Amino acid sequence: MTNQAQDRKLWGGRFAEATADLVEQYNASVPFDQRLAEQDIRGSLAHVAMLGQVGILAADEVAQISEGLQAILTDIRAGHFEWRLDREDVHMNVEAALRDRIGPVAGKLHTARSRNDQVAVDFRLFVKEATLQLADLTRQLRSVMVQEAQRHLTSDQGQPVILPGYTHLQVAQPILLSHWFLAYAEMLKRDEGRFRDAAARMDESPLGSAALAGTPWPIDRHATAAALGFARPTANSLDGVGSRDFALEFLSACSILMAHLSRLSEETVLYSTFEFGFLTLPDSHTTGSSIMPQKKNPDVSELARGKSGRVFGNLMGLLTVVKGTPLAYNKDLQEDKEGVFDSFDTCSITLRLYAEMLPKSTWNADVTRAAAARGYSTATDLADHLARSGVPFREAHEVVGGLVGLASRSGRQLWELTDNEMRQAHPLLSAEVAGQLTVEASVAGRGSFGGTAPERVQAAVQAALSELDG
Ligand code: ARG
Repeated sequence: MTNQAQDRKLWGGRFAEATADLVEQYNASVPFDQRLAEQDIRGSLAHVAMLGQVGILAADEVAQISEGLQAILTDIRAGHFEWRLDREDVHMNVEAALRDRIGPVAGKLHTARSRNDQVAVDFRLFVKEATLQLADLTRQLRSVMVQEAQRHLTSDQGQPVILPGYTHLQVAQPILLSHWFLAYAEMLKRDEGRFRDAAARMDESPLGSAALAGTPWPIDRHATAAALGFARPTANSLDGVGSRDFALEFLSACSILMAHLSRLSEETVLYSTFEFGFLTLPDSHTTGSSIMPQKKNPDVSELARGKSGRVFGNLMGLLTVVKGTPLAYNKDLQEDKEGVFDSFDTCSITLRLYAEMLPKSTWNADVTRAAAARGYSTATDLADHLARSGVPFREAHEVVGGLVGLASRSGRQLWELTDNEMRQAHPLLSAEVAGQLTVEASVAGRGSFGGTAPERVQAAVQAALSELDG
């Protein structure tokens, strides 16, 4: 970035004194909004073509301006463009470069528009593309989750891998690992839906709102909207230049996504500890310690958990920027961009990393199965057994609670209680009943819709696969 001797500002007409250096630094957005260069030039090309179509500019003026813009785009793509801080932002850098290149006719490009609608259209184009890209990446990770669910239906010697299901991080009931994967697949399905809903709502072009009130020029906003791939123009010029809720929706969909990935990360960190030993992460996606040679750290998951903080922060940041601004455009809105870029980058790489890492991870089925059997995880099944014989569930709960107390005081599992102890607790119980309390029987019994019984999970995998296919 250069800041050479200032040439005359594009808005310099009424100013007698040069801009102070600190103001220039404070005011400039080009260090970050140069990322909108493609969108800016696309917007200008659509605008100038329309100015030609409606007869505001002559055909040769349109041709000169368009060719100049194309040449600038080529320079920018090749990294040959000189971004100048004294030219403030991406819009004025491009426009001033156009003037350098084609002379005063460049000044006609800004007919019937303002930087306010220019930045609004550039940013919408960016956010819409980012939203659709994250929708696609979210879908890809969801597809990985479903494939992992399918793989772990048979990866334990032809049997489904069993995992302890937790509430309060205490072993609650056995579940299939595949069921756990599908839970995340469901969250990601809604995340994708949030991105797609937001993309549909933001699909309106603010170009032609001009500074705030529209323009006396006979512009064709429907034509520019269509040329830029928007469904329609925004209906109100104040709203067009002054609103940023499209970015807020993007940032909130990113935040909810990251909340989900952060929970996944927390479980990944926990399950890959020596103490749990459920999960072995691939060497390619873990890191070592500079002092402790034995360490293999789940840095990807820890960073994903940590980076959720900045993504939430970006949402809070923009909400706070927008909330106090009167209609329509205020320079405060220049603060809308960096958080959006950051959330987009953070979500993209996090989604990509998980899509790579999960298929390369190994679940240790013996360990997870043994863990699922501990902690009296089948006590509910015993209570259900009594209740099926007509004992009110509350009473059955009480009886089994007593048995769990007895077993835990004597360091035994439920199926290690004696026939006598069982019968004493309730005449309908016996050692034989207790012997049936396996984790396999427990999961097999949970055949309610949405439950963890293998045939239910199998059907859910099939449904998800065919939906992802279609
Ligand atoms: N760099 C500005 C932004 O990002 C562009 C719009 C400036 N408009 C203005 N009237 N100063 O918001």
